[in-house]
Amino acid sequence: MRVLVVGSGGREHAIAWSLSRSDSLDELHAAPGNPGIAALAHCHPVRADDHGALVSLARELRIDLVVVGPEAPLVAGLADELRHRGIAVFGPSAAAARIEGSKSFAKEVMDAAGVPTARTLPIAQPPCVIKLDGLAAGKGVWVCRSKDELNSALQVIQAFDQPFHVEELLEGPELSVFAVAAGEAAVAFPPARDYKRIGDGDSGPNTGGMGSFSPLPDVADEEAPEILETVHVPVLRELARRGTPFQGLLYAGLMRTEDGVRVIEFNCRFGDPETQSLLPRLESDLVPLLAGDLSQDLELADRAAVTVVLAGGDYPARDDKGTPIEGVEAAEATGALVLHAGTALHDGRLVTNGGRILDVVGLGATVEEARSAAYDAAARIHFAGMQHRSDIAADA
Ligand code: AMP
Ligand code: GLY
Repeated sequence: MRVLVVGSGGREHAIAWSLSRSDSLDELHAAPGNPGIAALAHCHPVRADDHGALVSLARELRIDLVVVGPEAPLVAGLADELRHRGIAVFGPSAAAARIEGSKSFAKEVMDAAGVPTARTLPIAQPPCVIKLDGLAAGKGVWVCRSKDELNSALQVIQAFDQPFHVEELLEGPELSVFAVAAGEAAVAFPPARDYKRIGDGDSGPNTGGMGSFSPLPDVADEEAPEILETVHVPVLRELARRGTPFQGLLYAGLMRTEDGVRVIEFNCRFGDPETQSLLPRLESDLVPLLAGDLSQDLELADRAAVTVVLAGGDYPARDDKGTPIEGVEAAEATGALVLHAGTALHDGRLVTNGGRILDVVGLGATVEEARSAAYDAAARIHFAGMQHRSDIAADA
């Protein structure tokens, strides 16, 4: 199989890494990729939002399967354009990707499917959660416990000039469960946890995600099939019933409340950085799976994985560009996996190029071992302003 991965972050590097271990892979390409992906795949300077150029590239390279990493091109219809031209894609149509692209559409589908989620509230009053309706890269949600928090949230939201949605505030630990789906058929990955806030102890603003780990101490791998049946499958049936079947990765962001598991959100693609901790646990071949062969359950290694994100100094407010990065080889020499999230090469030198710069993945027999492997490797990497959380998987 000739596979093309679309995207340029740590998630896409993890996908490329996992695909590159497959016996069914003949050629691996990426658009645009990044310096880390370039060690595994041929990278082509085509952006993820340039649909016309991606279609031409896939045809030129006689690609058998396109794997789309980020949500924006899916919501904008990239998978439809590729399928329309007879190119197989892992990723949903624009109509099915609305499950992520519009919070109000997602709520409507969940209600119709009878999936447990936070109640929609008619007015904004604390405690509540306010969400921008459209895509916001994890930065369009305000948890309002007090009147002050609500007022400042409403002030920020005004600047967006976008519809928003108000819902019940849920309490409990969060988890992510991914399902590979083809219409109504689906198989589940084990639960993973990500850390959305910038600071230790979940302090500071929301980010795209500062770390992740799997397996979880409080929700066993073995619970994934039941979550699949109660959360993902009803939504997949409802989307199919509407004539917009979902093909690709259906990501459920969940909260384990006192009343059971509730859906916080759905996403239409692999999560970042959970994917970085899940794919290194996968023993099954990723290529047939993403090509739609769901005949077997996923095989998972018993090992644990912990991912620590190294971000630029001003993240999440501003990206960092051009700062030299040292120590990646030394980190890799410890046995950790170093995935590139926002890097570039300038005159042959690795430099920062984004908000989240590198993802350091430690593996071990237990979460504790994986955690110290990740932090040990991360300590060997340096760039000016580098920040990371020091409590990833500490609660495990
Ligand atoms: P989302 O973009 O919908 O995943 O929301 C980002 C984060 O906001 C989630 O990971 C939760 O930490 C928090 N959040 C979203 N919805 C709720 C809710 N209904 N109750 C409590 N926290 C929430
Ligand atoms: N891990 C959060 C996300 O991918 O949206």
